[in-house]
Amino acid sequence: MKSLKKMMGGLCLMCAVAGCSAPAAKDATTSETNTKDGTNAVIENILSRRSIRKYLPQAVNRDTMQIILNCGINAPNGQNKQSWEVRVVDNPDFINGLTEVYKKENPQAANEPGFKNMFRNAPTVVFVANDGAYDFSQVDCGLLGGNMMLSAWSMGIGSCCLGGPARFMTDSPAAAEYLKKLDFPEGYKLLFCIAFGYPDETPAAKPRNAAKVRFIE
Ligand SMILES: Cc1cc2nc3c(=O)[nH]c(=O)nc-3n(C[C@H](O)[C@H](O)[C@H](O)COP(=O)(O)O)c2cc1C
Repeated sequence: MKSLKKMMGGLCLMCAVAGCSAPAAKDATTSETNTKDGTNAVIENILSRRSIRKYLPQAVNRDTMQIILNCGINAPNGQNKQSWEVRVVDNPDFINGLTEVYKKENPQAANEPGFKNMFRNAPTVVFVANDGAYDFSQVDCGLLGGNMMLSAWSMGIGSCCLGGPARFMTDSPAAAEYLKKLDFPEGYKLLFCIAFGYPDETPAAKPRNAAKVRFIE
């Protein structure tokens, strides 16, 4: 997986530098697999990603974060409205200060083994807000988040999509000063957060219910 991650990291970097110009169309006879051993790096990356809830202490390198963010904003989105607003926080004062507010209202949270902060212990957090005036904005934001988490994983960066902390920040008056610091424009609402960091665990895959997906003739 290491060499795959390096390769994908290089790819993303080239993409960021080159402004993500379109790749040449694939030959139909080779499009199912793209490596000599019959594996496909993109599919392998998608299937091996897991939500990470234990991280090493150091924040994600900002150059690496920039690549991840660039992958995010290149997600497909309705009418290319880019109906998201994205904020990145790797300042421990922000993360720990907000966590203290959270702990006051949820004292049991700190009893979890290995608890460091309310963002599943991550040192870098991305906050995603959607445009309330556009009916497909939540889809746009979800696709942006998916791109970020998968590109991160391709470079060895773990992540966890988080709805709980976003709900707390929007619902709790005590968190208002932190929400304000995110400086989202009028009409935008914090939808979810994404924890990012260097993984300190390798969780097993959670089972998926394939019966929920089927072809209709
Ligand atoms: C919209 C959304 C909200 C989520 N909220 C939380 C959360 O608040 N806390 C948490 O630990 N994980 C959260 N998750 C992560 C899911 O629990 C996780 O993706 C799911 O269990 C599947 O596991 P996997 O990502 O390892 O495949 C959320 C995921 C999504 C997509």
